[in-house]
Amino acid sequence: MTPLSPNDLLHLFERRFGRQPILFRAPGRVNLIGEHTDYNDGFVLPAALDLATYVAVAPREDRVIQVHSVNLNADFTADLGQPQSPVHGWSDYVVGVALELEKSGHRLKGSDMMVMSVLSMGSGLSASAALEASVGYALLSVAGAPINRLDLAKICQRAENEFVGMRCGIMDQFISCHGVEGCALLLDCRSLEARPVPIDPKVRILVCNTMVHHQLAGSEYNLRRRDCETAVALLSQTIDGVRALRDVSVPELETHGARLPQTILKRARHVVTENKRVLEAVAALEAGDFIETGRLMNASHESLRDDYNVSCPELDLMVELSRTAPGVYGSRMTGGGFGGCTVSLVDAAAAEGFADIVGPTYEKETGLKPMIFSCYPGRGAGPVVL
Ligand code: GLA
Repeated sequence: MTPLSPNDLLHLFERRFGRQPILFRAPGRVNLIGEHTDYNDGFVLPAALDLATYVAVAPREDRVIQVHSVNLNADFTADLGQPQSPVHGWSDYVVGVALELEKSGHRLKGSDMMVMSVLSMGSGLSASAALEASVGYALLSVAGAPINRLDLAKICQRAENEFVGMRCGIMDQFISCHGVEGCALLLDCRSLEARPVPIDPKVRILVCNTMVHHQLAGSEYNLRRRDCETAVALLSQTIDGVRALRDVSVPELETHGARLPQTILKRARHVVTENKRVLEAVAALEAGDFIETGRLMNASHESLRDDYNVSCPELDLMVELSRTAPGVYGSRMTGGGFGGCTVSLVDAAAAEGFADIVGPTYEKETGLKPMIFSCYPGRGAGPVVL
């Protein structure tokens, strides 16, 4: 099936609701390095994808939100005047954002919406953040409210934390709202200051979707957060000023780590070394040193696999196969883990042959046909001009 275009979405909306909508989009993301650091007040380096979720919207006279998902061929309605509780499905992302927007002082209008995405849920490319940000942008626009991207990102994160029940950090929502064309963003997850890091045209970012999504992803994620909190509680007894793992240096962990239980030490070691790797990777990228960037990406994967224990056999296989392909500087899992995607930094001259080398071997060994694509960093959420 050929994917639908934003134009198709416009026509589908007109046919279903009998009036003209306005269109908004918000992108998914790939994270180059800095995994499981965002909720530790640390550093991340994501890029927005040129793949997005689209929302067509038109206001209603009442306070009802009526949404049709083109991908799922499913509908729901929610009355903003009535109390709402989660139903543990895709509608939670939409309702959660609407409720958080209202809690933060916006008076929303009822709206008819149609949602379409080229990002599949659970693929590890932050389809959920893209849904939240596109819906949030659309609802604010329909209400005539000014858009503050940072506020929108925080509202979307709160919706996911509180209504959906996933204790995610701010990375995915932030990059979906703030993406800069041609650049990754170095984000300090404590100050929420971000700086664009241009991606040199001499390299390409290759994303491989393993096509697996293990069920444990959500529950294990929340457990990792708890392990990090335990590490902070213990380390703050002997190191001054530790509010988050961001405040612990590698030498400090080496000195004080012995008092942590083995598993907690491994979790802390991943986060503390990963924060350092992010800053080093940015320096290397900016110096055009792709060999060093790739080395840091590889080290990030090893740390996620061995210390943070969030990889899986399919991700490990994809990373191994990618590293043996010509022109590959480095390769790692990206996102929360337990399936989803890998990201590889590849010499531009070798990028075209990459999928034909990695794809068939992965398919032969797993029976799964991976989706492999080159990603050009795109813009953050906004209106779609047709
Ligand atoms: C998920 C979460 C993010 C981040 C990553 C891991 O994508 O939504 O906040 O924690 O996992 O880096």
